[in-house]
Amino acid sequence: MIFLLMAAHDTTTITLTTMVQYLGQYPQWQDRCRAEVLALESETLGYEDLDRLPSVDLVMKEALRLVTPVPALPRHVVKDTEVLGHFLPAGTEASIGLHFTQHMPESWPEPEKFDPGRFAEDRREDKIHRYAWTPFGGGVHKCIGLYFAGMQVKSVLNQLLRRYRWHVDPAYVAPMNFMALPYPTDGLPIRLEPLG
Ligand code: HEM
Repeated sequence: MIFLLMAAHDTTTITLTTMVQYLGQYPQWQDRCRAEVLALESETLGYEDLDRLPSVDLVMKEALRLVTPVPALPRHVVKDTEVLGHFLPAGTEASIGLHFTQHMPESWPEPEKFDPGRFAEDRREDKIHRYAWTPFGGGVHKCIGLYFAGMQVKSVLNQLLRRYRWHVDPAYVAPMNFMALPYPTDGLPIRLEPLG
């Protein structure tokens, strides 16, 4: 039960937090996302609407890259193996650094920069390696909630974009706590402006 709460609740909260931060710092992306939701027929998001929000989708992917909600995965090596020339005997406890991988300059130009366009069809920087972008893990234990997470995140953002414009200092750098799952320790100061 604890795992399900962590897996299904904290992760989507972290994703939304990161999206809200960067959309507050990059108003041009906020405007793009708002234009997409306002173009929908209904105020509430239907399943078929998910494909009609390409900018929101790009921003979500970039948020999941920049602040990987599950930064590392624990693994227990069940038989002797070798990874990139390193011998790992059976019984080794290994950690897979998803956050690290998603910030490697070898894969991602300007890795610390918020640049949702890197996931657009004409760039697809994530295609450099099948495990370059893995916020939902990989293999048999890959997240079972990944599509549901997309629905949750986009539904909340849809309501926020319709009701508010928000601002975050462009120079703001979140003081992150990575002890458990990552969160900004200052509560992320934002200025909300209700839309008329
Ligand atoms: C943005 C949101 C989410 C992220 C980033 C995320 C991330 C992950 C990751 C990295 C794993 C893999 C763990 C591993 O390989 O050891 C995982 C597994 C899992 N996730 Fe998610 N998750 C998210 C949302 C959700 C939601 C909404 C649910 C349920 C409604 C969920 C349920 C699960 C479950 C049950 C597993 C375990 C699967 C297994 O062990 O076979 N997750 N998640």
